[in-house]
Amino acid sequence: MTDQIPECPAATCLTAAACNVLNASEPATKVRFSESYAADWAGGNITAIGDYQPPGRPSRPERPELRPPRDMPRRRFHSVRGRVSFIHAIAHIELNAIDLAWDMVARFAGEGLPRDFFDDWTGVAADEARHFQLLAGYLKRNGAAYGDLPAHDGLWEAASITCDDILARLALVPMVLEARGLDTTPAAIRKFGEAGDQDAAEILTAIAEEEIPHVAAGVRWFEHVCAARGMEPISTYHRFVRERFKGKLKAPFAADARRSAGFDPAYYEPLSALSDPEPSH
Ligand SMILES: [Fe+2]
Ligand SMILES: [Fe+2]
Repeated sequence: MTDQIPECPAATCLTAAACNVLNASEPATKVRFSESYAADWAGGNITAIGDYQPPGRPSRPERPELRPPRDMPRRRFHSVRGRVSFIHAIAHIELNAIDLAWDMVARFAGEGLPRDFFDDWTGVAADEARHFQLLAGYLKRNGAAYGDLPAHDGLWEAASITCDDILARLALVPMVLEARGLDTTPAAIRKFGEAGDQDAAEILTAIAEEEIPHVAAGVRWFEHVCAARGMEPISTYHRFVRERFKGKLKAPFAADARRSAGFDPAYYEPLSALSDPEPSH
């Protein structure tokens, strides 16, 4: 990561701002632009939405090397190296999350959604930028940096296969992937705590709390768009997840956190790996 962060260019509209973030390759630049543009939107310095189209893939730094998910090392908590590797992987997810939030803003700007939609996703982008910074700070305190280790190349795939329909995007990204984070983060927090790494445990605790409103925004806008199209939300979610998500949803679910996000079990329980019918003989 370079120490030279360019000044954030003024943007005439929110979709231009989103594209500037997506087209920035250095993580520190994505973070600074995200904070700046989210504040511009919240403070009324950017008021127009515009119609700039996002790139097919966001720009990324030369490092980390991206590898297929199956090549990722197992992460162990008993060594600093293992914990750094885990936090590096989460930092990679947060960097993707910054781009996913801005892609949501720009790609679906033509849907005629109310300003609340843009408030929500610019707010999510600012949160994800802060999450990345918290994790980058941890890596630095432990003698590492984002880019030092290989990272998972599958994360943008959910965006690529849902770029044609906002309902598919909301179903797969906030309502599958981010919701999955609500399920898995408590165990990671516990393992960091058991390993005596309070620094990581506290960062992940702060992040986990802020992810609940992201899932809530996903559910809210999914239901909003379904209502606008006269579609029943739960069966529509089931259809999109079955058609486009590889694999089943993994139980157990963090039902309380999901419920706090307004995410009813009727959405996800029927898609659970545990809800498979018994094989017939
Ligand atoms: Fe996040
Ligand atoms: Fe998030």
